[in-house]
Amino acid sequence: MFLKNKTIILGITGGIAAYKTVDLVSQLTKLGANVHVCLSKNASKFVSPLSLEVMSTNKIYSGQEQGEEIDHIKLADNADIVLIAPATANSLAKLANGLSDEMIFDIVLATKAPVIIAPAMNSNMWQHPSTLANLEKLEKFNYQIIEPDSGLLACGHIGQGRLPDNEIIIQKLIQALNQNSKSKGKILISAGATREAIDAVRFISNKSSGKMAFALAREALKANYEVVLVSTIEVPSDIKSQIIYVETADEMCAALKKEFDDSQALIMVAAVADYKIKNSSDQKLAKNELSNLELEKNIDILEALAATKQAHQKLIGFSVETNDALEKAKSKIKKKNLDAIIINNTSAFGADTADIIILKKDNQQETLSASKNIIAKRILESCIENSHDIISVV
Ligand SMILES: Cc1cc2nc3c(=O)[nH]c(=O)nc-3n(C[C@H](O)[C@H](O)[C@H](O)COP(=O)(O)O)c2cc1C
Repeated sequence: MFLKNKTIILGITGGIAAYKTVDLVSQLTKLGANVHVCLSKNASKFVSPLSLEVMSTNKIYSGQEQGEEIDHIKLADNADIVLIAPATANSLAKLANGLSDEMIFDIVLATKAPVIIAPAMNSNMWQHPSTLANLEKLEKFNYQIIEPDSGLLACGHIGQGRLPDNEIIIQKLIQALNQNSKSKGKILISAGATREAIDAVRFISNKSSGKMAFALAREALKANYEVVLVSTIEVPSDIKSQIIYVETADEMCAALKKEFDDSQALIMVAAVADYKIKNSSDQKLAKNELSNLELEKNIDILEALAATKQAHQKLIGFSVETNDALEKAKSKIKKKNLDAIIINNTSAFGADTADIIILKKDNQQETLSASKNIIAKRILESCIENSHDIISVV
């Protein structure tokens, strides 16, 4: 797991969104991170230090405690990452000017770990030239800013300023932690058509060629992800990923379940047979015996994995329909708890190009007619690297 045994210093400053950090700390701890919380003096008016202590199982630091001068250096040295969430307008100003009148700002100055800042405030405060000037300075210091969400704010304004959901923040932490290492994280991709044996020579299958899955694997490798392909067909030799060969839906499901836990995303491109033969034979059946075959429903792999999905993980499905494709895809997203579904049509089978719609769980849609390589790149950008962009990384 990416966050397992990682030391995260969470600085909480005095904004209304501070209450959300109790759940954030709980989620990070459940993912195996060692979270040390440091509150600004004002933050403890917005969130209970006791709740944070219970969730993190660590001592909580706040303000500038007497007699604890050394702790900020220890924390700064041991940190794998420092996150300030929510960051108030006031704290952005302090960070932009190197002020260190509270322990959390000492830590930011003293650490060599990446610093991620998630501002949250009233939309006018966010757009104020002074806030914008501070953000510009923070970018120069290599701090990563997670842009606030837009919507109805606690102050009653509608605009940009909400603290993004915890899963987005966790995703950004994982990305930042992986930035220095070669890999940005692990992406699991299923490829090809499953085969369900009828007898020693016959099987049930479909037309899936694996080309879309292989294009995704190539693009993901180019973008520095670790790729694990679970494939029913031979993977082209230029794809230097880990490969697990399977044949049936059950084998594919078992392989994906094993690999899913520490993956950032599963892109389920493989076309899985809906049914298998209940009374298949190891021998070749005679023609007249074929009419006795009984079908048995295969496991729904995406549904099975959705049950174990953690909030920061992405599940992306593919669907091919000849009618009512959009409506069917919308209901699949809900039923299977997917983050996105790629709607294909039958002409995509075996082709180098495709006409697709990327449909996301928030109902955003994007239509694309292009080569599978370009489609693969866009799927990664849109569905994995996601809408909430870090404003600046360098
Ligand atoms: C009810 C209330 C809610 C506030 N919410 C925010 C907020 O969401 N974002 C922000 O930048 N400031 C907010 N403020 C203002 C900050 O609390 C104030 O600037 C404070 O000095 C911040 O302290 P700190 O940055 O040292 O934690 C709020 C103030 C009050 C009274």
